[in-house]
Amino acid sequence: MLYINQIDIKEKRIFVRVDCNVPLDNNLNITEDTRIRRILPTINYALDENAAIILASHLGRPKGKRIPELSLAPVVKRLSRLLHKEVKLAPDCVGEEVKKMVSEMKPGDIIFLENLRFHPGETANNQDFAKELASLAPIYINDAFAVCHRAHASVVGIPKYVEQCAAGFLLKDELTYFHRALEDPARPLAAVIGGSKVSGKLEALENLLNRVDKLIIGGAMANTFLKALGYEVGNSFVEEDLLDTAQKLVKKARNNGVKLYLPVDCVVAEAIEPHAETKLVPVQEVPKRWFILDIGPATTTLFGEALQNARTIVWNGPMGAFEMDAFSRGTLEMVRIIANTYALTIVGGGDTDVAIHRVGAADKFSYISTGGGAFLELLEGKTLPGVAALEECAKRMGNE
Ligand code: 3PG
Repeated sequence: MLYINQIDIKEKRIFVRVDCNVPLDNNLNITEDTRIRRILPTINYALDENAAIILASHLGRPKGKRIPELSLAPVVKRLSRLLHKEVKLAPDCVGEEVKKMVSEMKPGDIIFLENLRFHPGETANNQDFAKELASLAPIYINDAFAVCHRAHASVVGIPKYVEQCAAGFLLKDELTYFHRALEDPARPLAAVIGGSKVSGKLEALENLLNRVDKLIIGGAMANTFLKALGYEVGNSFVEEDLLDTAQKLVKKARNNGVKLYLPVDCVVAEAIEPHAETKLVPVQEVPKRWFILDIGPATTTLFGEALQNARTIVWNGPMGAFEMDAFSRGTLEMVRIIANTYALTIVGGGDTDVAIHRVGAADKFSYISTGGGAFLELLEGKTLPGVAALEECAKRMGNE
């Protein structure tokens, strides 16, 4: 794969796929703009090279329809402010008007195309749609790590029809840190995996058990493991159909010499409600009909001790229902513990990111990924379609 600084973009027109799928509130204000800030190095580099920049992104899931609330207008406004430069929003991402705007671009101009997913061809990877997008520029740059797991037209289609392709600096950073964490880690390597479902992270757990020295499991997914090991978990969320799988994973950990850590105490509540009555109990004493909603202090101490000698830590998923204050302590405590280790710390997944920002500890982590699903697919050991497409394109460029 090539990177943007390895190809000649000087005064050329470039198409840059970014992921500015940022959260908006009801008044269409951006509530978190990290994904916009993280593409600035690529855009600034291209501006220094005097390139004419066409930016393209999706926002939300409009399912092929034009939904005004999902216009990229707020993103364009924010980007313009961050760059101190005019960024024009095109009325669409394809069509005559867009072609005309693009043909009038001068070096250093920036146009942001309207939401790619207003067209069904984007998610369907329609080749005519991809060709039409590709016709806007001879060079394609992918700086949209967070959508690289989607085989969509602007991710895997365009690279087939342009002269040159390369990755932007955000994508480069994401892949470099991930490589340092899982392909070539300083050991001991520990993974901390949380969140609600074993099913959603089954492949990741399988893959991690072949790579890590320690695996720490928290969040509601730990309930399935606890039940599989014979503990009473009350009314807690459990994936009954995965009890056997959980047992197999415990066995696999033992066979592979991976040290597996599960919660030893937990916060339980009578109901999944912010003001429900709560108790702190060892996992051996979860009352019938109560819900496990967070890890307890003995568990954070245990997890913290297990992480003390780790030289690399990968974290994905909260330790409990942390969106409710009463059940957020375990996750927030894990943020502090991991932030204070001397390990290379790499975090992925929206919820984990939110927890880190709540503690105000973002600058204490080595790397926070912008990807949710894409990060998970890397944890599963998969090659992302967007990355494969860039590699294919680089191969083709090498042969030409
Ligand atoms: C994300 O937010 O994870 C990416 O932007 C991908 O969005 P999607 O899940 O709607 O494809």
